[in-house]
Amino acid sequence: MRLNTVYHQNCLEGMASLNDGVADLIFTDPPYYQNRAQNIKGLKNHKDVVTEFEFDGFVSEEAYLQFLEDVLRECYRVAKPGASGYLWCGDDFVSYINRIVTKAGFQFRKVIHWHKTNPFPAIHTRKMFANSMELMVHFSKGSPKTWNHKPVNEMHNFIEAPICMGAERTPHKTQKPLRVCLPYIEISSNPGDLVLDPFMGSGTTAMACLKTGRDFVGYELNTEYCQIIQGRFTEFMNAPSLFQGGEPKVIY
Ligand SMILES: C[S@@+](CC[C@H](N)C(=O)[O-])C[C@H]1O[C@@H](n2cnc3c(N)ncnc32)[C@H](O)[C@@H]1O
Repeated sequence: MRLNTVYHQNCLEGMASLNDGVADLIFTDPPYYQNRAQNIKGLKNHKDVVTEFEFDGFVSEEAYLQFLEDVLRECYRVAKPGASGYLWCGDDFVSYINRIVTKAGFQFRKVIHWHKTNPFPAIHTRKMFANSMELMVHFSKGSPKTWNHKPVNEMHNFIEAPICMGAERTPHKTQKPLRVCLPYIEISSNPGDLVLDPFMGSGTTAMACLKTGRDFVGYELNTEYCQIIQGRFTEFMNAPSLFQGGEPKVIY
């Protein structure tokens, strides 16, 4: 395994070559299986409508949940004892995921709620509330070994921030803002630790690691998204920074 690398590969194939107990933290954002969003095709290109059709093609809900279980079992194998894990999900699958993390061997700890302050607005004719929440399940392999407690008012299982905007925004449709990732990576890992993200997307976990001195390894299936990640790495390496590690890379 090369540190600070995103492999253009299916995560299940990639993780199979990782040794047991190497990761200090798992931080990840898998596909959400939002097939129900297909009836809002007109909104498909809006950045806040989570319609990842190109990689959300599971044949059934069962297949989707089985896939998550397979990934989480691999995560458990490669996690160090005491490693934490964070997995983003929508409100529709959160209770299944709480149980799957336990089935995979982890302890379920808490669900964290991200309130998006600028969601796509509710549309009168759809008679639904705006999708202004995303959730993240926190779990651990035994009792967490790293817990860098922040001021008490920053330790709520709730965070409020806009969706990714401005210079940070890439063309990836479901890019998470660094603002909602960094605090958890800082709480549950230390500089020099290894963070695993099986679903890198636009590379947000990798960027959070580069900015905070953690090492990372991850996977991304989609070629275009790998190019976005490489672009973010290049931009980072060209900016003055404190990063002392080897050059981050996407390996195809
Ligand atoms: C929800 S997105 C992650 C977004 C990411 N958190 C960000 O901020 O950009 C999930 C990503 O997982 C990728 N993906 C889906 N199945 C995969 C698999 N089996 N192996 C690796 N990547 C996969 C998709 O292409 C997609 O980019």
